[in-house]
Amino acid sequence: MCVFKFKKVFRLLRMMLGLGVFNPELFIEAALNHLERNYSDIDCAIACISGGVDSVTTALIAKRALKDKVLPVFIDTGLMRYGEPEAVKNALSGVIDLTIYDYSNSIVSNLSGLSDAEEKRKVFRDLFYSAVSNVARRHGCSYVVQGTTKADVVETLGGVKTQHNVLTQELLLKYGVKVIEPLRDLYKYEVKALAYYLGLPSSIVQRQPFPGPGLLIRAVGKFHVDKLSLVRYATKIVDERLSVRNYSQYFPAVWEYDVINEGYLGNSLFKVFSVKTTGVVGGSRVYGHPILIEDFNKRDVVKLHEQFDVVKHPHILISLASKDSGKYFIAVRVVETRDYVTASVPVIERSLLLKLAEELLENPDVKAVGYDVTPKPPATIEYE
Ligand code: XMP
Repeated sequence: MCVFKFKKVFRLLRMMLGLGVFNPELFIEAALNHLERNYSDIDCAIACISGGVDSVTTALIAKRALKDKVLPVFIDTGLMRYGEPEAVKNALSGVIDLTIYDYSNSIVSNLSGLSDAEEKRKVFRDLFYSAVSNVARRHGCSYVVQGTTKADVVETLGGVKTQHNVLTQELLLKYGVKVIEPLRDLYKYEVKALAYYLGLPSSIVQRQPFPGPGLLIRAVGKFHVDKLSLVRYATKIVDERLSVRNYSQYFPAVWEYDVINEGYLGNSLFKVFSVKTTGVVGGSRVYGHPILIEDFNKRDVVKLHEQFDVVKHPHILISLASKDSGKYFIAVRVVETRDYVTASVPVIERSLLLKLAEELLENPDVKAVGYDVTPKPPATIEYE
């Protein structure tokens, strides 16, 4: 009921502003009023922070309204990038005082051996919220503040993929917590406007999004510790090479170089991988085998996915470099987007991509590297 009222007030405010232009000042006023009116008498709430703009902005607003009742925490899932928990804590020092809880061993070991993308996401969600509810109980808190945004809700309710933070009533009962999600109706660009309005530095506002399930969904297919280590290693290299470019999101994913079929597109040989990755076609989820095109450098890369049945092959990649040894393939994914519901692929100069690929190939376990040329839709940004 309260959430409903808040949404109505918010929508009314938006209409009054006209033209759907987002006004951070009015939004914050409405959000603070709502939180103060409805949650002032709660025991307490832990605010789950990942270091991204959604969770940090959410925690700041909740803290402003509910003061000491909000305890910011970082749950280390073991699926983060190199040194991430400490880096986030340091980046937020002076803004938010964060306590880190380490659940890495139990989460990583319980995920090992899982292959199916949705199963991985659901098991992760269960492990993550078991940890969250554990931390909340330790502090005697019945509430969790989290930075769910509209894109998360749209993807989950639309059946595209189970975003880790979109919980049903049944799940909330299971974990014994209630959630407070002040940004649930906002798109990422609105959250960013809000974050700037609150005075957050660009280093946090422009930090590229990192999914809740972390490197789990970038270690594509069967999950195990070696693959996790390799994707973490590759992430560091891709970050170093591409961070100066300000793309909306850029990252590598890793899967076994296991080819189940081959064919020709014109004169270009293409290979079909055994692993499956996700896409979104006509608003619905698809799950099919990615394709790698060899010797491809002349055609319009943005349209390349139109040459294949996207339901069966939601991600199309072009080959950058390969060698005879090694057993893993690394996909380099770069997208430009405002709302993260649709995304385009930038055309990056080949020399930069080749340099990046050669560097990734130095790892003895890596057999080949490719660049993903599929927009969203039909591919999703992540592979699982
Ligand atoms: P997709 O792959 O759905 O990604 O096109 C859209 C945006 O959402 C991020 N993403 C997630 N974020 N929990 C999150 O907090 C998740 O389960 C999740 N899955 C995807 C993705 O990184 C991209 O920015």
